[in-house]
Amino acid sequence: MKFFIDTANLNEIKEANELGILDGVTTNPTLMAKENITGNNNILKHYVEICSIVDGDISAEVNALTFEEMVAEAEILADLHPNIVVKVPMTSEGLKTIKYLSSKEIKTNCTLIFSPGQALLAAKAGATYVSPFVGRLDDISSDGLQLVAQIRTIFDNFGFETQILAASLRNPMHIIQCAEIGADVITAPLNAIKALIKHPLTDSGLAQFVADYQKGNK
Ligand code: E4P
Repeated sequence: MKFFIDTANLNEIKEANELGILDGVTTNPTLMAKENITGNNNILKHYVEICSIVDGDISAEVNALTFEEMVAEAEILADLHPNIVVKVPMTSEGLKTIKYLSSKEIKTNCTLIFSPGQALLAAKAGATYVSPFVGRLDDISSDGLQLVAQIRTIFDNFGFETQILAASLRNPMHIIQCAEIGADVITAPLNAIKALIKHPLTDSGLAQFVADYQKGNK
């Protein structure tokens, strides 16, 4: 399973990359705004900077809503770096855009997926990734992880190569449950990824080992 970090914060991206387990980065316009990255030129420069830190797929989202404008924006994004994956929203115009970009061998991530039917259409259009939003479904008392499982079954039924990129994950258990379901990729904030490292028995066991080593070396 691939691990992506879900942030536009360069320090967090560097920290995750240094752990040696990072396979890519996802961003969205909200994550960019959170880092005060505004204006098209600054946003494009920021993507290039992320690509210089992480050697893996970097999702860069289009902001246009029509097919023609999305394609124009996607081509600029794809030209920034070979690792850019163009993030396209699940709409009719988005589907057409994914189909077109796929014919040009430009990688895509179909975002804002909230139903199995949306994922199926994105896969048929040739999306490289689909991003089901787990946490946002949980937020409205729906079952986000069940959606990931449904998409897994559908993709396996037909051998779709589109990868399931479980997004909007909020905690370490979301990551573990996605691994159990067989999501191809998870994207999560740094704190959820780092929470996987911690266990109280590891901490107490290590404290004991350190204390016993020091006793023997006094
Ligand atoms: C990533 O691709 C998504 O945009 C992101 O995971 C959404 O997360 P949120 O629901 O926490 O905003």
